Amino acid sequence: MNIGTVPLPTPYLMAPMADLTHAAFRDLVAQWGGCGLYYTEMLNARIVASSDPANDPYCACGSKDTPRAAQLVGDDPEVVARAMHKLQDLGRFDVFDFNLGCARGVPARHRWGAALLSRPDRVREILTEARKVLQSPLVVKMRIPEGNGNSLERWAERLSEWEVDAVVLHARSARDLFKRPARWEALKRFKRIFPKPAIGNGDVFSPQAALRLMEETGCDGVMIGRAALMRPWIFADLVHYEKTGRLPDPPDAAALMARYAEDLAARFEEREAVRRFRLFAFWICQNYSYGAHYFHTACRSSSLRAMAETLHGFLSRETIPDYPVRPYLM
Ligand SMILES: Cc1cc2nc3c(=O)[nH]c(=O)nc-3n(C[C@H](O)[C@H](O)[C@H](O)COP(=O)(O)O)c2cc1C
Repeated sequence: MNIGTVPLPTPYLMAPMADLTHAAFRDLVAQWGGCGLYYTEMLNARIVASSDPANDPYCACGSKDTPRAAQLVGDDPEVVARAMHKLQDLGRFDVFDFNLGCARGVPARHRWGAALLSRPDRVREILTEARKVLQSPLVVKMRIPEGNGNSLERWAERLSEWEVDAVVLHARSARDLFKRPARWEALKRFKRIFPKPAIGNGDVFSPQAALRLMEETGCDGVMIGRAALMRPWIFADLVHYEKTGRLPDPPDAAALMARYAEDLAARFEEREAVRRFRLFAFWICQNYSYGAHYFHTACRSSSLRAMAETLHGFLSRETIPDYPVRPYLM
């Protein structure tokens, strides 16, 4: 699959996830491979536009996490375009994504992200300004729109008229948050109208489900979020499964976490490394029946080293269960 001029090695994309998909995590995923596009966490356009992204840890890159997409969130056309331009000048990112999907936190308070789906004129202005400064492909990641006269089909037409190079559709509305299952039938409706690559997203909890999503909806690619936090090797599993119909043995999660702690320590100062380790540990622990206990026990330690050692003690006695993963946030 290509996004604009950028060829993706596989059609399996790693989702942007705030506080989690930073350079260290992307490099962790890249260690196994199989991922076709590595997303940054959501970047606030105001901050990028008014600071020096070259030295911003949120805009840092790993050594193996290519090709890369930078995701921007905001609602001011000039600011979003300026932020994209600055990031493009850094030369680290192959694709730019505009967020029309976030339904929580700071973006929701400012009525950015999914809230912009009720302001199509503003979205058109933003994408037009972004197009003027970008030589790289432009992608939109969105949820299912809500409200009268705001149909998914109408958005598929608009985004095709506005010449975005691909769309990622998270098959839930903003109101759904994660409370109801993803509606894959919406992906099929979208793909029927949108002529460029459409990437389906939502509730892919196994390699088999990723392939099923593409088959049932006609989507050109699939994006995986929470399952990649629980199993960063899922993309490699997916490629292997597609070729052979079998899944490889899972890696040693205890060793993985120990290496990850070392990598975080090398990239971040202690406080930030601890915060990032905790956030990821929350997800990796969800693989196990007693994961909540492991996580809370490890979090009683305040140093990265002690946390990593506690977790190592628990995980080295465990085996990774079969797919599907079962995240807490369903
Ligand atoms: C912890 C977390 C953080 C997220 N942060 C972002 C974000 O920064 N930008 C974005 O577009 N979506 C974000 N999402 C949504 C995911 O990219 C994805 O659309 C969603 O999790 C559905 O995919 P999944 O069912 O494979 O998890 C986040 C989701 C989670 C669970």
